[in-house]
Amino acid sequence: MITEEAKYEQIIQGILANGYGICDNFLEATEVINISKSFSDRFNLGNFQPAGIGKTDSRSISEIRGDQILWLDETTENEAEKQILNKIKALSNYLNSTCYLGIVGSEFHYACYGPGKFYKRHKDAFQSQKGRLLSVIIYLNQHWQEADGGKLVIFPSEKGIEKEIFIEPTAGKLVCFESEKLEHEVQVSFAKRMSLTGWLLTK
Ligand code: OGA
Ligand code: NI
Repeated sequence: MITEEAKYEQIIQGILANGYGICDNFLEATEVINISKSFSDRFNLGNFQPAGIGKTDSRSISEIRGDQILWLDETTENEAEKQILNKIKALSNYLNSTCYLGIVGSEFHYACYGPGKFYKRHKDAFQSQKGRLLSVIIYLNQHWQEADGGKLVIFPSEKGIEKEIFIEPTAGKLVCFESEKLEHEVQVSFAKRMSLTGWLLTK
């Protein structure tokens, strides 16, 4: 069993070396099951809304992204959500104490891409969202197949040459990168694709 600290180190070393960190089993199987249930309960209540985009973009939203989201409430009484928020807090604390990042909080939402939905290439932070330091995505898809599509594609540059890295959105996996730096996209998903997406915030 890999310790929490080893997971954090894996994420940090990835960001330092390549500009992005991946941890395949950030969530245990039971944590995935519990948070997936809360996800589905809230989804079935009709609480999710189509996600928005920056006001400056003249394209219509559906040309850019098709996910539906629901923001997590920091004061939630839901045990599974509390557990996830605590795990994110522990990661933030570790990043602060080892890398002096000055993370002061976070904002997270559930995201659901139905069949045929995608999110075109973008960055997560611009001037208007200055507080977003790190993007964090945690996937909840328990029986994801290659044919289900929905890969996260990131475009890191190495010595001025852009690379494409394809990441399967499989259950329990966490991906983390600098919000202002790394462009990325979500390829068309052919199945219901569930994740928790959010940002670690600085002042
Ligand atoms: C986002 C995003 C990536 C993913 O919500 O900004 O890029 O893999 N999500 O869900
Ligand atoms: Ni994004």
